[in-house]
Amino acid sequence: MNKSSITKIGVFTSGGDAPGMNAAIRAVVRSCSYHNVETWGITRGYEGMIDGEMSKLGTRSVGNIIQRGGTILKCARSDSFKTKEGRAKAIANLRKHGIDGLVAIGGDGTFRGLHELIKDSGIPAISIPGTIDNDIAGTDYTIGYDTATNTAVEAIDRIRDTALSHNRLFFIEVMGRHSGYIAINSAIAGGAVAVIIPEEHTSFDSLYTLLEQTGKANKKSSLVVVAEGSRIGGAMELARMVTERSSYFDIKVTILGHLQRGGSPTYFDRVLASHMGLAAVEGLLQGKTDCMVGVQHGKMVLNPFEDIMNGQTHEIDREALRLAKILST
Ligand code: F6P
Repeated sequence: MNKSSITKIGVFTSGGDAPGMNAAIRAVVRSCSYHNVETWGITRGYEGMIDGEMSKLGTRSVGNIIQRGGTILKCARSDSFKTKEGRAKAIANLRKHGIDGLVAIGGDGTFRGLHELIKDSGIPAISIPGTIDNDIAGTDYTIGYDTATNTAVEAIDRIRDTALSHNRLFFIEVMGRHSGYIAINSAIAGGAVAVIIPEEHTSFDSLYTLLEQTGKANKKSSLVVVAEGSRIGGAMELARMVTERSSYFDIKVTILGHLQRGGSPTYFDRVLASHMGLAAVEGLLQGKTDCMVGVQHGKMVLNPFEDIMNGQTHEIDREALRLAKILST
């Protein structure tokens, strides 16, 4: 298997954390051990790489983490790594410890950094998509998305109970600066009357008309799910706009925020992360580099960075959006 002569693989998590990152770290460490390769954990992503925060990880050091949210390696967003000097320091630290392969777990910012690092150093590297947003091209799912969406649905169910008791209209804001994946699917699963996402322009007037219609149709309570990147305003803003237009609705707002980033990963995210960890290690050992592990049509794939970073995003599921609209009436 080891066609690559790699002996030490460094693993790190970067960007925003996502439930299931620990399961991916565990899979990387244990897959390396299976193939007689050492694993080194780098803490705080690129920041830690620059500061030389790295140490050997044994199979036991990743025991009892598969069920834990967050990341034992910590996460950071790094501006210094965007500079040539920052990257040179990070590369010197990797070389000092003999790290000759890398697995990065994170989102598109992480991948861009990795691409630059490969160009500057020639160190082979593969990334694993870990972000609750599910906004990465080249994979049907990212690690953490399933857990975050389940968390949002659970919260929506609870809000529905109180909304119904008081005949209230709730605006519920979920995460997703550029992506409506959590919003659409939590809206379908939570039975929302409307969903507002960054990828689609919804006019405030059409939203208001829909709310009026549901009011007239004797709907006792309504839930509107709003992705944080909504182009017509977040949940607070929309609630204010509706209140300004009419005093008919009794409106409340809930912003779920970072709740969605924590918690024990679902079985789906744990299994996905485990497959991706193994695929990344075996990809490196087979001589692959500058690519991302993805799952497409139920199979693990390796997609070149060039293809997935070429201004592409993970297209929203238009059929799911149509479904949400049909079923909300
Ligand atoms: O990219 C994941 C994400 O959770 C987004 O949905 C959200 O907009 C952002 O990170 C928040 O980032 P931070 O925790 O740095 O504020």
